[in-house]
Amino acid sequence: MKRFLDLADLEREEVLALLELARRLETRPEPQALAGKILGLLFLNPSLRTLASFQAGMARLGGSSFVITPGQGTWQFETRRGAVMSGAAAEHVREGIPVLASYCDALGLRAFADGKDLAADLAETGFNAMASLVDKPLINLESATSHPCQALADWKTLDELEVPRSGRFVLSWVNHPRALPLAVPASAVHMAALRGMEVIVLRPEGFALPPPIMDKARRAAAQSGGSVRETADRNEALAGAHVVYAKEWGATSCYGDAAADGRLRSELKHWCVRNDWFAQTAADCRLMHCLPVRRNVAVADEVLDSPRSVVQREAYNRLTVQMAVLHRMLKSI
Ligand code: CP
Repeated sequence: MKRFLDLADLEREEVLALLELARRLETRPEPQALAGKILGLLFLNPSLRTLASFQAGMARLGGSSFVITPGQGTWQFETRRGAVMSGAAAEHVREGIPVLASYCDALGLRAFADGKDLAADLAETGFNAMASLVDKPLINLESATSHPCQALADWKTLDELEVPRSGRFVLSWVNHPRALPLAVPASAVHMAALRGMEVIVLRPEGFALPPPIMDKARRAAAQSGGSVRETADRNEALAGAHVVYAKEWGATSCYGDAAADGRLRSELKHWCVRNDWFAQTAADCRLMHCLPVRRNVAVADEVLDSPRSVVQREAYNRLTVQMAVLHRMLKSI
């Protein structure tokens, strides 16, 4: 495997094989598998889980890693083509990324959406431009519309909890002080659809996921016997749900317009997951969230601190599935 950029690039059988490898490495550790191998991690945006779990995973496999967060002990990076670099940024990604890639065996890159032009973000314009500068195996640590490591960890979590393969998976929009990117919601619906689940995107008006994201998830569902639809009717969506996957994202009806987005979300304070959301769900319905989560804005304490919440297991599984990705990518090169 040369690139791990989007779960949609993998056949369902390839995803299942990665999950099997993750389970194998948990029960039969291989502490020398990647001895001498180096992973570079370039974060253009903040992280806790992704950064720590990739470093830990590389160490557990006998390899090592370095982390670059431009502007924090290193030169600030310029990403724009044709920029006149007379400001704070001293290094352009066109030099910086190939330099970093030359020091390692694989590179991970986090580069969020610009959040201004929906078409450009859906096309992964920024991430793809940087990815084209990398001549080594490349891992997407979260781009504009894809967070494949989170999706893989979430799939493993669902399997471990024995959530029915065809169970009801409700991805629910929840509130946040500002617009967040589409990567996690897009990857979550795709993952659940490819797993074969009945996927419902529950969101208020103005926050529909863009058609390319829904269409891609529907194609995945068609492979696996699942389904994908969306609604603004919370009671209908949650009835019988096996999973409520809470996630924040920006208004797609006014993408890039922070003021308009803010006006919409100011009326949506009640989109915070509370115990009463589970009145009509399956009794053992789980609460998932990729973290970080704003307590009592997106999800109430009473839910996060209850046995329904599996957010810690999701976060732990970032480590286990990423070790599988690293093993598959680097063991034989
Ligand atoms: N879920 C996730 O990617 O967490 P971080 O942003 O902390 O890496």
